[in-house]
Amino acid sequence: MLHFPVLLEESVDFLLNDLNGHYIDCTFGRGGHSMLILEKLSKDGFLTGIDKDPDAYEYATKLKNNNFKIINDSFTNIDKYFKEESISGILYDLGTCSTHLDQPERGFSFNKEGPLDMRFNNKIGISLSDWLENASEEEIRDILYQYGDEKHAKLISNAIFISKIRNKITTTTQLSKIIKDIYPEKDKKIHPATKSFQAFRIFINNELEEITRSLKAAEKLIKLGGFIVTIAFHSLEDNIIKNFFKPSLVSFPKDIPLNNQEEKKFVCVAKKVRASKDEISINLRSRSAIMRVFQKI
Ligand SMILES: C[S@@+](CC[C@H](N)C(=O)[O-])C[C@H]1O[C@@H](n2cnc3c(N)ncnc32)[C@H](O)[C@@H]1O
Repeated sequence: MLHFPVLLEESVDFLLNDLNGHYIDCTFGRGGHSMLILEKLSKDGFLTGIDKDPDAYEYATKLKNNNFKIINDSFTNIDKYFKEESISGILYDLGTCSTHLDQPERGFSFNKEGPLDMRFNNKIGISLSDWLENASEEEIRDILYQYGDEKHAKLISNAIFISKIRNKITTTTQLSKIIKDIYPEKDKKIHPATKSFQAFRIFINNELEEITRSLKAAEKLIKLGGFIVTIAFHSLEDNIIKNFFKPSLVSFPKDIPLNNQEEKKFVCVAKKVRASKDEISINLRSRSAIMRVFQKI
């Protein structure tokens, strides 16, 4: 197995409400969710997969199915490809694929030596190594605080800054060693570079802003009664999703009571769905997954 799909049956069950409908899997990865969706759709149903990662795209082009097509783009651009209210369901299974961590040459893993890259789409933008070369100590520290909730952000950013002035940091293991050497809590179960690597990955891929931009497009594309299913892996992602779908207040005449002044476009039909103990026992990554499901009304 290249990548274990998380909350597979649960997410696809919520997503599919019309077997003849058109669906979007915004995070194709290695197609775990897409494959099950395609198995269940009727011959009139259709699935479009999207992934910004060129390797995921390559993988998907080998999948021969007349009811499927793949687009190599960021999910922020979904409104370029579909008409408003034409889609029955959209799935987001966020974050990295196991394949990113298993391939050292992609530069995501702190214990496998590879170029310090971390871009989902390694054909555009700049690698983490190039970004660090010109970053200030404060910029590095802010990223570690903001996206990694790393309490030793100041210490780590200082060590990275001093090191990169001497020599450009070009590999994943160079960076993880700098962090490990300075980290005060040596006996921790998780690797000291875990939070920092997560923070840099989120930053380099502009992950949080891309989720918001994509959800803004998604809410227009979904048909009435259709579903948006999200699987997040940390609280920063999950909070963005939760807050995005909170009913917004609009201006109504003063005599309408405040609690009736909500413009509700979506209802939350499932919140904080977690992987079962059985799933966690075969796929540890699923322990941090949080699924939410929203229906357009
Ligand atoms: C957790 S994996 C998805 C795994 C997939 N559900 C499966 O079962 O194989 C997340 C995927 O989303 C992709 N991705 C992340 N951010 C993206 C974005 N803004 N636009 C498009 N794809 C994105 C990553 O490249 C990665 O392949």
